[in-house]
Amino acid sequence: MKKMILAGLLSVFAVSNVMLTGSAIAGDAAAGKTKSAACGGCHGVDGNSPIPVYPKLAGQNEAYIVKQVKDFKANTTRQNAIMMGRVAALSEADAADIGAYFQSQSVSSAPAFDAGKAAAGREIYKGGNLQAGVPACQACHGPGGAGTAGIGYPMLGGQYVDYTLAQLKAFKDGSRSNDDKSLMRSIVEKMTDDEMVAVANYIASLK
Ligand code: HEC
Ligand code: HEC
Repeated sequence: MKKMILAGLLSVFAVSNVMLTGSAIAGDAAAGKTKSAACGGCHGVDGNSPIPVYPKLAGQNEAYIVKQVKDFKANTTRQNAIMMGRVAALSEADAADIGAYFQSQSVSSAPAFDAGKAAAGREIYKGGNLQAGVPACQACHGPGGAGTAGIGYPMLGGQYVDYTLAQLKAFKDGSRSNDDKSLMRSIVEKMTDDEMVAVANYIASLK
């Protein structure tokens, strides 16, 4: 019965040419540019935030941004007092528009990083740590750190060292737990602090 209803709906959608990608709303970057005015003060008008406490959003994929906005709003698995206030009034359509706008921008320059630590981090990023059971980061975040836009895996390349490291620590101590199926928590629990510092430096170097 359910199947028949679904089949019926699908054919209606197919005929009327509606997107069939679940609940995702495709954002409008031009509308998002206007709506992102309230974000630029911290994240930079083009998403290239000027200081490390504010993550860069330039080039970040729309699906990931929409998910984070939703998670900050829910204030359970990713809690941040500043962001909760900023996204309280955004609808999912607003978040999609803003996400489309930031995705259309690009990281303007690599932030400061330690070249020696980045070299050690490259090994982890490219090949993981087999002994400890840490997978290669590039499997999900891409060889160049661009992420996997279609499924909302975040772009990491060119991000500030401090921000990346703070997120890895937050996954490790569980204060950030919005990663579906514990994808990230199950990885960082096997990483040492030095490895996290190293990989954060390598990520910053990827632009
Ligand atoms: C007053 C400063 C401030 C403003 C304004 C602000 N943000 Fe943020 N934003 C932050 C901080 C700080 C973080 C990092 C939170 C954390 O450490 O988890 C953040 C994180 C984010 C993230 C997560 C990035 C990632 O890589 O996971 C997204 C998405 C985001 N903000 C979107 C927005 C949007 C959309 C707006 C405008 C509606 C906005 N922010 C306005 C301070 C701000
Ligand atoms: C199996 C896939 C997978 C692998 C392997 C993986 N990640 Fe992730 N990572 C994710 C997903 C999915 C998210 C987004 C979680 C969410 O929904 O907020 C994420 C989020 C992150 C974030 C937060 C990004 C931000 O903007 O806040 C960082 C940093 C990160 N990963 C670093 C790493 C590092 C370093 C490695 C390798 C040691 C790694 N990841 C390996 C899937 C993966």
